[in-house]
Amino acid sequence: MNQPIVLGIETSCDETAIGIVRGRTLLANVIASSVEEHARFGGVVPEIASRAHLEAMLPSIDKAVRDAQISLKDIDAVAVTAGPGLVGALLVGVASASGLALGLGKPLYGVNHLAAHISVDYLTHDQPTDPTIALLVSGGHSSLLQVDDITSKITKLGATMDDAAGEAFDKISRVMGLGFPGGPAIDRTAQSGSASAIDFPRGLTTSNDWATRPYDFSFSGLKTAVARYLESTPNYAKADVAASFQESIVDVLLLKSLAACKATGIDSLVIAGGVAANSRLRAVAEERCAKAGIRLRIPSPALCTDNGAMVAALGSLMVAAGRAPGPQAFDADSSLPVERVSL
Ligand code: KG4
Ligand code: ZN
Repeated sequence: MNQPIVLGIETSCDETAIGIVRGRTLLANVIASSVEEHARFGGVVPEIASRAHLEAMLPSIDKAVRDAQISLKDIDAVAVTAGPGLVGALLVGVASASGLALGLGKPLYGVNHLAAHISVDYLTHDQPTDPTIALLVSGGHSSLLQVDDITSKITKLGATMDDAAGEAFDKISRVMGLGFPGGPAIDRTAQSGSASAIDFPRGLTTSNDWATRPYDFSFSGLKTAVARYLESTPNYAKADVAASFQESIVDVLLLKSLAACKATGIDSLVIAGGVAANSRLRAVAEERCAKAGIRLRIPSPALCTDNGAMVAALGSLMVAAGRAPGPQAFDADSSLPVERVSL
């Protein structure tokens, strides 16, 4: 029998993204971003994002169906990000997906954006190796998770106590005048700098922290240290600051991820979310995991940042696992907890 075709819709932030998969094969991945409309504000403006989703939705679905060389009636199921994210933005996706599923008479899966980030890996690498430890690092979330079954059982081991990792990149980029979004800008600037030029602090890594909150993160001390350094150092070397700041984040993320692998005895690590596109994080993760005998999987950089393929991928895994679809109409949940994989 042919593998089911699943269309995924993602609108949790500023990307209107449609992905289509057949089983684990990616057929289309269309992304219309309103990032340029937000850039001059230095961050995403929810009202602008919602309006842009409305404008981009139908043309994006049309394009995805054409790219996949299918027709709408070939779709077996629709999946949509139900949360977490900006509520107005999510609602555009949920209403569109609900209308599409109803019109086609096909099941609708409302899925978790964070679980979708992790599941996109299954389009690139072979069979899922559940259980796995997952480091999820995006603009809105940073957490360390134990994934026993990506379609139904995710346990949070720790999370950030203040900023998300991507948010720290975005804020430091802004104070350094490198633009928005900050992650790619810092990644680029850091290429010509020295990661050991400045010894920035590693958040929550004292022996007391390791004893009491081993899998939590904090980036506010680092942010303050960088801001102080910039203020007190006229003519600072941008590349060195970017590289040293990035190194602190990468170091802490991986120290804690590998500690979680060791403590749980799970020798598999998935790194997902926008920050997983970071070139230094990818390189150091490879080195350290090889050394520790941990199997590392990171989706290709283009699939790390928000996209529709990840939503379609999770939908496809739900279908393959025989999970029941959700109701045909539901509310978006802007603060959907990571443990809740689907509605
Ligand atoms: O997952 P994502 O696309 O959206 C959310 O769900 O938040 O993540 C966006 C975040 C932004 O903060 C962006 O600066 C960061 O991912 N990011 C990066 C890189 N590319 C995107 N951070 C570090 N290095 C990168 N190359
Ligand atoms: Zn995301």
